[in-house]
Amino acid sequence: MSSDEAPLRNLWYMAGFGRKLARGSLWHKLLLGEPVLIGRTHAGTLFAMRDICPHRGVPLSAGRATSNGVQCPYHGWQFGTDGVCTHIPSLTDAQDLDPSRIKVRTFPVCEQDGLIWIYMAAEGHETMAPTQLPPKVPLANARPRWFESQTFQCPIDHAVIGLMDPAHAPFVHGRWWWRVRPRLKEKAYGPLPNGFVMKRHAPSKPAYRLLGAEVSTEITFELPSTRFEIVKGHLLGRPLDVVGLTVCTPIDAHSTQVTQIQYWPAWLGFIKPFFMAIGPTFLGDDRRMVELQKEGLKFNPRLMLIQDADQPAIWYHRIKKSWSEHVATGEPFVNPVAERTLRWRS
Ligand code: FES
Ligand SMILES: [Fe+2]
Repeated sequence: MSSDEAPLRNLWYMAGFGRKLARGSLWHKLLLGEPVLIGRTHAGTLFAMRDICPHRGVPLSAGRATSNGVQCPYHGWQFGTDGVCTHIPSLTDAQDLDPSRIKVRTFPVCEQDGLIWIYMAAEGHETMAPTQLPPKVPLANARPRWFESQTFQCPIDHAVIGLMDPAHAPFVHGRWWWRVRPRLKEKAYGPLPNGFVMKRHAPSKPAYRLLGAEVSTEITFELPSTRFEIVKGHLLGRPLDVVGLTVCTPIDAHSTQVTQIQYWPAWLGFIKPFFMAIGPTFLGDDRRMVELQKEGLKFNPRLMLIQDADQPAIWYHRIKKSWSEHVATGEPFVNPVAERTLRWRS
């Protein structure tokens, strides 16, 4: 993988759902090709550290959670949630080795809106505090109401570009019950701190009418791979927001976890069957397309990005480049996106 294809650093990545990680349990995850232990102590503290015991390399996640960290299954060394070794059972009273001089690398971790986010620092930045907070769902008391997660056999870039590509929908997602005839679209875009937004507009898909007559939607994208669709509707005499979040988390250089999560107010539970019916199908459509794409990419062809339909992908590459420069030089991040109207048929 060349350096401009490597996943970006000094950013938060979504690693899983908080309510699936019970007290006293440990997860092993591969994130950006690195083994990461994510755990919750018996006391409830969330923590994340490199999933390799510094003694002889056993994954610490194969051990057990303790009241304040983890114990390795091989020789029982214990580590606190700060990664510092707290106990080495084989030491005798006469031996004065100080366990606290041994430390496992930890990762900043945050639980928010029902999601667990891990901050992946750049090399040499491991001990610096994150400069930004993880993406926040723009809803009060946001709780995931529905989600679907699938592993795509592709690097993160192709998964992300698929998310923001407006021209594939009629071909990849078209079904007799889902409109397939392409129409002319015209949408206003503008910059966001770490990405861009397709500004609020009235959506054309009939499915949005589930949320009343005066529906509007806004779609944002920010690094590394966060796409929000914020739909505002009006139903049963009250205004409401339905927020869809899609995130791509690189597992390694060849595979990416793509997760879609929907948030809505508790009283709107009756729309869940709609997402249950179509969500896995639509995400599966995208997954199959990147698998097909992999067949061609084996031969390392030159690819194209053309005109307005591919402009979001062009912006993505430019924003990535700008972020990489910011991380490498320490200079402020400069967003290359300007206000613009894009036109395409889909
Ligand atoms: S390998 Fe972990 S304690 Fe020995
Ligand atoms: Fe798609």
